[in-house]
Amino acid sequence: MTRHLLTLDSLGRDGILVNLELAAHLKSIKGMARDTLAGGRLGLIFDKPSTRTRVSFETAAFGLGMLPITLRPDELQLGRGETVADTARVLSRYLTALAIRTFEQSRVEELARHSTIPIINALTDDHHPCQALADVMALQEEFGDFAGLRVAFIGDGNNVCHSLIQAAGYLGFTLAISTPAGFEPKPEIVAGARANCEANGGGIEVGHDVREAVRGADAVYTDVWASMGQEKEREERARIFAGYRVDAALMSLASRRAIFLHCLPAHRGDEVTDEVIDGPQSRVWDEAEYRWYTEEALIYQLVTGEERWT
Ligand code: CP
Ligand code: NVA
Repeated sequence: MTRHLLTLDSLGRDGILVNLELAAHLKSIKGMARDTLAGGRLGLIFDKPSTRTRVSFETAAFGLGMLPITLRPDELQLGRGETVADTARVLSRYLTALAIRTFEQSRVEELARHSTIPIINALTDDHHPCQALADVMALQEEFGDFAGLRVAFIGDGNNVCHSLIQAAGYLGFTLAISTPAGFEPKPEIVAGARANCEANGGGIEVGHDVREAVRGADAVYTDVWASMGQEKEREERARIFAGYRVDAALMSLASRRAIFLHCLPAHRGDEVTDEVIDGPQSRVWDEAEYRWYTEEALIYQLVTGEERWT
C-alpha cells in the first residue's frame, strides 16, 4: 500500500519518532544526503501562498538528490476542470512523491486515493502535519523528551492547532489550548488525541482562559488569528481575539525555562508582540529551519519505507 502523510495519524507515534531521529541526523549534516533518492522527482502544488513550505521542500528535495517541480494552480489543468483523480493518475507516472497545499482536506485525500506515489499534506484548512513535525523537533531539541511537558496553544483552534493536538496525543505531552468561545478545535480531533494520551501520557485541555493555559507551560505557541482563506474575517477576528495576544506579561506566567513557538508567518502586534517573537525565549527561526530536516526525513520515510538511513 502506498504511504502518505494526510494527517499526523498517517505516521502515528512510531512514524513520528522515526521522523525525529532521521531529522536529527539530517540536521547534523545540513540536509546533504545527495545519493539517497538521486534521480527522484518531488512535485509541489500550491493552491495557497507559501514561503517556508515551498522553500523547505525544495531544499529537502535537493538534499536528497531529487528534482523539485513546483506548480501553481494557474499552471495546471486542474484549474481548468481536469479532475483531481486524473491529475493524480498522470502525476504518479512522472513523480516519486507529491506534496500539496490546498483548501479542503478531502482534496488531499482524493489525490491519495488515486495516486500510486506518496502524497504529502503541505497544509489544508484542517491540518498542517508537516508544521507539527518541525514543532515537535523544536521541543525535542530544547527539552530532550516529551514526558511531562506542558505546551500552551493560544488563539484559533485551526489547522496548526489540530496537528499539534495529534502530536500531543502520539508523543504524550500536555497541550493546553485557549481560544475565544466558538473558535475551539474540532471535537473529534480532540477526542482522538485524548484516546491516544491514555496510552502515551499527557492530555488535551481546551478552555478560554489564556492565563490558565500558560501558567507553568514549557512552551507557548500561537498562530495568526485569520488563516489563509479567512481574509474577509480579519477585522472581526482582530476584535474577538484581542485578549489572546502573546505578550511579555503573558509569557511571565509560563515556566522560567519556557520557549515561544509560532509556525510563521506572524502578524506582529496581533497574536504576538515584537518583544516576545524577538526576545530570548523565541525559537521561531530554529522551528522554521526544522521544517527542512523533518520534511527531508519524511520524503525518505514515505518513499523508501525505511526507518534508518541505509
Ligand atoms: N509555516 C508555514 O507553513 O509557512 P508558509 O505558509 O510560509 O509555508
Ligand atoms: N493557520 C495558518 C498557518 C499558516 C502557515 C493558515 O492556515 O493560514
